[in-house]
Amino acid sequence: MSPPTPERLRARLAALQQQDLPVHGGRTLAYVYDSGLAEVDALAREAVAAFAGSNGLDPTAFPSLLAMENDLVAFARTLVDGPDTMVGTVTSGGTESCLLAVLAARDAHPEVDGPSMVVPETVHAAFHKAAHCFGVRTVVVPVRPDRRADPAAMAAAMDASTVLVVASAPSYADGVVDPIPEIAAAAAERGVRCHVDACIGGWVLPYAARLGRAVTPWTFAVDGVTSLSTDLHKYAYAPKGASLLLHRTPALRRPQYFAHAGWPGYTMLNPTLQSTRSGGPVAGAWASVRAIGDDGYLALAERALAATDAIAAGILETDGLALAARPESTLLAAVADGPLDVFTVCDEMAQRGWFVQPQLSYAGRPPSLHLAVSAATDPAAFLTALAASVGAAREAGPVAVDPGVADLLRTLDPATLDDAGFDLLLAAGGLTAEGGPDGASTGPALPERMAPVNALLDVAPPALREAVLVAFLDRLARPAGIPIDGEA
Ligand SMILES: Cc1ncc(COP(=O)(O)O)c(C=O)c1O
Repeated sequence: MSPPTPERLRARLAALQQQDLPVHGGRTLAYVYDSGLAEVDALAREAVAAFAGSNGLDPTAFPSLLAMENDLVAFARTLVDGPDTMVGTVTSGGTESCLLAVLAARDAHPEVDGPSMVVPETVHAAFHKAAHCFGVRTVVVPVRPDRRADPAAMAAAMDASTVLVVASAPSYADGVVDPIPEIAAAAAERGVRCHVDACIGGWVLPYAARLGRAVTPWTFAVDGVTSLSTDLHKYAYAPKGASLLLHRTPALRRPQYFAHAGWPGYTMLNPTLQSTRSGGPVAGAWASVRAIGDDGYLALAERALAATDAIAAGILETDGLALAARPESTLLAAVADGPLDVFTVCDEMAQRGWFVQPQLSYAGRPPSLHLAVSAATDPAAFLTALAASVGAAREAGPVAVDPGVADLLRTLDPATLDDAGFDLLLAAGGLTAEGGPDGASTGPALPERMAPVNALLDVAPPALREAVLVAFLDRLARPAGIPIDGEA
């Protein structure tokens, strides 16, 4: 049988994409960031396509990719007060940048047995992944009541095994900037590296400062900051797959590199975790950054920050909602201020075409709604949908979890569960994979309303949440063909 025609495949791709959250329109307030600049997006996608087959593995074979990478780092240097010595690398995303910062810190200290890193409890999960991957112990320090890292407690937590200290600008869950000058000073005093995770704020905070807003110092202008991550595929509005890891000096970056000549093939020489690196994301990011430019980013930041202010003010005026913290960039966390079920608010927003991300309760904090506001987000339309959603959620009342089930979830040790046990739990929560022919998964068959699922996850301790969601993902990720129209 001959393969389907390109037209049929294009139609199928378009139909598949219909299942996804929209990446344009400013109504998806997590995962994607929308400049609202259609021409820039089109140009960036052309650049991705043109360089999709190029390989950043060898900069002598593909010098164009090296040139674009160096140009992106040079642009970023102007945003992060980078000294002349600053160097950087394009990675595949924020998590890879954070992983590499940890790897470099660990390998800078081969003499340290059992290396550790000191992180605030609000640090992004990427650092826990790094700890897991690279055998670096995390020393997690509680944050202050204002949800910012506690510099004195972090300083006290450092010891001879500490190879890295991390702070966020801002933190994902709360949207606040840690007191980086104090944290970096404490690290520098002990000769320890200090990484600033500006993955989500790195392309906004410089412009916020230029617009006259008060911004906690977070760049290389702060003594003691040794490395910094800033994502191109977030607020630089580049296509997915691009972040920057920046180091104050080449010497600090050196242990990030990996080389291996001890085999009969080419000498592997990698600055990142990948070896073959598609040129697409670098070219897409380069096209975005050059097309938008410094003035363009200033205007986009002004729009996104103004929208954030308007949404924050609207939330404060909404009966039943409050803010976890006053926003310092473009992130907001909304919490219930009374008997409102935020998970139901999420569902109601989804019904009105808005995606807001539920954040489960953690360590005494209530559940919240995460909003990453883009330049394309219309705050008035958002607040109209929010008011209606809050009203509907109030009418529906909170999702009740059966007390017996709640007790079970609180005490269940995931290590005692086998596959059948996870199947039962997933079925009870309504989390199943849609069955295709032969029982193969064709995707998630999620319940129409996610609030009951979130309410169950919310009472489960983190280890059980992890185990249940891993079991869910495992069941989703099974071989299954996609029928093309006209085929059985
Ligand atoms: C502060 C921070 N660090 C790291 C990451 C991880 O980035 P990515 O999802 O691109 O891997 C994020 C993502 O939102 C983030 O906000």
